Amino acid sequence: MSTQPWWQTTVVYQIYPRSFRDTTGNGIGDLPGITEKLDYLATTLGVGAIWISPFYKSPMADFGYDVADYTSVDPMFGTINDFDVLLDAVHERGMKLIIDWVPNHSSDEHPWFIESRSSRDNPKRDWYVWREPSPDGSPPNNWVSSFGGPAWNYDDHTGQYYLCTFTKKQADLNWRNPEVQEAMFDDLMFWLDRGVDGIRVDVAHYVMKDPRLRDNPRLTARPMTITKDHGEYDMFEHLYDKGHVDNHALYRDVRALLDSYQPERFSIGEIHLSDWEEWASYYGDLDELHLPFNFSLLHSPWTAADIGERVAAVEAAVPAGGWPSYVLGNHDDSRIATRFGEQHMPVAAMLLLTLRGLPTLYYGDELAIPERFIPAEEQLDPHGRSLPGAGRDGCRTPMQWDNSHNGGFSPHGAAAPWLPLTDDWQDRNVAEQLEDPQSLLSLYRTLLSYRDSSAVLQSGDYREVDAPDGCFAFTRGEGSLTIALNFTDVTLELGFSGKVAVTTYLDDVAAPGVLRPNEGLIIEPG
Ligand code: NOJ
Repeated sequence: MSTQPWWQTTVVYQIYPRSFRDTTGNGIGDLPGITEKLDYLATTLGVGAIWISPFYKSPMADFGYDVADYTSVDPMFGTINDFDVLLDAVHERGMKLIIDWVPNHSSDEHPWFIESRSSRDNPKRDWYVWREPSPDGSPPNNWVSSFGGPAWNYDDHTGQYYLCTFTKKQADLNWRNPEVQEAMFDDLMFWLDRGVDGIRVDVAHYVMKDPRLRDNPRLTARPMTITKDHGEYDMFEHLYDKGHVDNHALYRDVRALLDSYQPERFSIGEIHLSDWEEWASYYGDLDELHLPFNFSLLHSPWTAADIGERVAAVEAAVPAGGWPSYVLGNHDDSRIATRFGEQHMPVAAMLLLTLRGLPTLYYGDELAIPERFIPAEEQLDPHGRSLPGAGRDGCRTPMQWDNSHNGGFSPHGAAAPWLPLTDDWQDRNVAEQLEDPQSLLSLYRTLLSYRDSSAVLQSGDYREVDAPDGCFAFTRGEGSLTIALNFTDVTLELGFSGKVAVTTYLDDVAAPGVLRPNEGLIIEPG
């Protein structure tokens, strides 16, 4: 029996709840829709955990990442009873449920903020970050919002600015006030007490700010390490508005809270940092976040050399006793099928599910759903509206279940889905791919089932091995398994021997000495 905690051996599936399955017919996915599809997740696909993006009460300025009540379900997603039913159904299937926790900011419609903005002497004034205007009336410092424009919004009523790192409807909480920590921890315990298994911490390294709110140094050029355009935001060194050293004390407190529960509860933090040492600091002495998300593959060019380099960097950065994590797609970045190219999806699947670490699979990537082009003027996403080209609607389109009305996303007679499906939904859907033994979905099923029964893939060590150009190869479990991935469109000769356990071609003619174009192999000793 493995002594490893569940979060090291499982595979997480990320659900964007608006887009998974609509049971009420309002065009928006809901919690009962997730419950309805649990057998697909647990049995057909075979993942062990789900992470659900926010479903809390929200005015939806950032589609739920603007929380107006941390302890309720937005009626558009269902009720708290629907949540309890979902959680029980997850546990009945032996799965785990991870929820999103958004500590950096609340909605401006949260009762805490409504009180805070009501007067300068309101007891909750200091729960948010309020400052006097500069002498010329401009914002208190030069911080910019990650969605564009100043990170400050002027409040006419009280004559001060409040800090808002994202939209103006997302006010940054002041975590230097101990009452905020107490209230946020109470709200978190509401879910932990109900039995949720873990949390995904939104923008985890943004939470603590420089107490003096100093100006960030301005850069003369956009850093080469930035892969996604955030406009003006990229033109500053974010010395003072994120990554503050005091985050570490906060995550030690979060960890102590999680560790006070039995069975153990888990945390994975959204940490976008290209400095590996700083990134790894969020493991602490294994007493902070259980895992920081690692976005390096998601932002990588699709070449064997780039991917190999990034995996080596992750392996080198993770502290002794720590555990890596990998992700290729999520609700903030364009769909991988479009970014990497559909022909590369089988190798991407094998890469994600064979590396050492916790993989997170974004809903629909198991079908290679492509990015849907949505013009800037039609974007619903606030980021897409403020910065043309940055829109995230295209990766959040409804899940494609079958070729019935609206791809089986919503019932007959339903309102139009909140976003259009991708154009190919009639051919690209779960039902179609289940019929095809060589579809990407069939490959995911094969890989997940293989991984589920392979202690080596779940826990074995990782070593890169020599391979021809264009191939990235590594072993797991002291050489027990060799994984060879061809990133090119040509056949590559390999020096490997053994027995092919899985080929991404899902046929029976694969050979351990040869990699066909874009083929991946799991090779067992012969
Ligand atoms: C990160 C989330 O992933 C993103 O969707 C959201 O817009 C921002 N945090 C703000 O909460």
